[in-house]
Amino acid sequence: MLVPVVGGSLTLLSMAQEGVVDLTQLANYANQPVPAYINKDNTPAANPITDIGATLGRVMFFDKRLSKNDTVSCASCHQQEHAFSDPEVASTGVAGTTGRHSMRLINARFANENRFFWDERATSVEDQSTRPIQDHVEMGFSGADGDPSLANLVTKISAIEEYQVLFTGVYGDPLITEERMQRALAQFVRSIQSFDSKYDLGRAAAGNNNAQFANFSAQENAGKQLFMTPPPQGGAGCNACHQAPEFDIDPNSGNNGVVAALGGGDDFTNTRSPSLRDLVDATGTLHTGLMHNGSLTTLLDVVNHYNAIPADVVGLDPRLRPGGRPQRLNLTDVEKDSLVAFLKTLTGSSVYTDAKWSNPFDPAGQLSLIVLPLNTDALRFSGAGDAREVTVTSVGVANVGYIFQTSMDLINWTSTAVTASAAGQLSVTVATSGPRCFYRYAYAPGP
Ligand code: HEC
Ligand code: HEC
Repeated sequence: MLVPVVGGSLTLLSMAQEGVVDLTQLANYANQPVPAYINKDNTPAANPITDIGATLGRVMFFDKRLSKNDTVSCASCHQQEHAFSDPEVASTGVAGTTGRHSMRLINARFANENRFFWDERATSVEDQSTRPIQDHVEMGFSGADGDPSLANLVTKISAIEEYQVLFTGVYGDPLITEERMQRALAQFVRSIQSFDSKYDLGRAAAGNNNAQFANFSAQENAGKQLFMTPPPQGGAGCNACHQAPEFDIDPNSGNNGVVAALGGGDDFTNTRSPSLRDLVDATGTLHTGLMHNGSLTTLLDVVNHYNAIPADVVGLDPRLRPGGRPQRLNLTDVEKDSLVAFLKTLTGSSVYTDAKWSNPFDPAGQLSLIVLPLNTDALRFSGAGDAREVTVTSVGVANVGYIFQTSMDLINWTSTAVTASAAGQLSVTVATSGPRCFYRYAYAPGP
């Protein structure tokens, strides 16, 4: 019996192999486990996450060719090991540095707020996703100031064969449009989730936020209570704006009194915060300075800021100026330390290391894709005995070169070059060499 099967044993040589994306063994982006207590979700009905769509998004997210001089990708400023933020306060783009601090991209999906950027100028993750590409400083396809335009980028990447394969895989044909790019990038960004924190363990077991969490220290439980409780009842009131269990920002938040713009002057428009999850890494260290200007460099600085809001500025949220005056919480040092201890429980671990959110390119910037026969009658046998042959067909992209591979053991593969027909058909006929054999098509970049 000959089986066109790709088993778990492939994982070793494909998914985990640098520079190879195995489209026959897509990572799970679409059906990741989400805790039962997480109810907020800003995924639009028109763009649910799919495994292949998020895979395309991943490739684009890490591809420096999406910048005008091939030096900057989304991941340059949104680094996996830093919760998809940048340890530098101002990130370096193709033409200078950004005017605000890069944001962590953790759990962007799990929020009521559907507007993005610190000042909420983007109306969805989709809308956000191609703005950095069209930003003069960030990726440089602005179409102004001597920059190429987005249409130039579309032409540029339409000529890249792996995008022809990937866009065909997602959309059925290789046409690249801004909307198709946005959909795939947004799927990848929404797929980035982190729910394996100490907080999540405690929350799942306790059933609600107000109960003591059995896995928390007394200090962490005290910090949790301060976070959840409004100031008139002796708490710090954080939960009014950073709402548990997602810790996403209240869509109606004003600014929080941090108003100094990077590079001088005031900026009163920053009314969004990313989720407060993963402020620190798994060792408890801050990834970077916090707030839109990166100005608060410890969690204690953050608590001190809210403990005594410096001034009643334009746009300061009314919750931070009770009675018309900037808030004074009068927290004790013990209370401040408890709040800091609680904030550290919101950090997970898998989001920093899971390969599905990692760079798919090899160190030389190359990418190979593995594709399999897509239809069930992809294998046709003919002949008998020694003359027995099999024809393996698949759907490819017209006139693009692939590698056809056969293996007896899923470890050693024999490769033959094959070019898809003008109709996009891949077809190879080979002698069947043994009792069991595996077949696949790979797309590998040319030399
Ligand atoms: C040069 C650095 C840089 C590059 C490149 C970059 N970003 Fe960003 N990103 C930032 C900064 C800075 C902000 C905050 C900007 C602001 O609010 O004005 C941000 C904000 C975001 C946000 C908003 C998060 C939130 O919670 O509101 C998302 C999503 C995002 N970026 C995704 C991307 C994607 C996708 C790409 C690639 C297409 C990308 N970024 C490229 C620096 C960068
Ligand atoms: C009235 C709403 C509001 C309240 C209450 C509030 N915050 Fe915030 N928080 C914000 C806003 C808005 C931002 C983004 C501000 C900016 O960057 O300019 C923010 C940012 C933050 C950040 C930085 C996030 C990042 O990615 O850099 C932390 C940490 C934080 N808040 C913690 C707290 C804590 C702890 C409390 C309670 C002591 C609290 N907040 C109370 C609105 C609020």
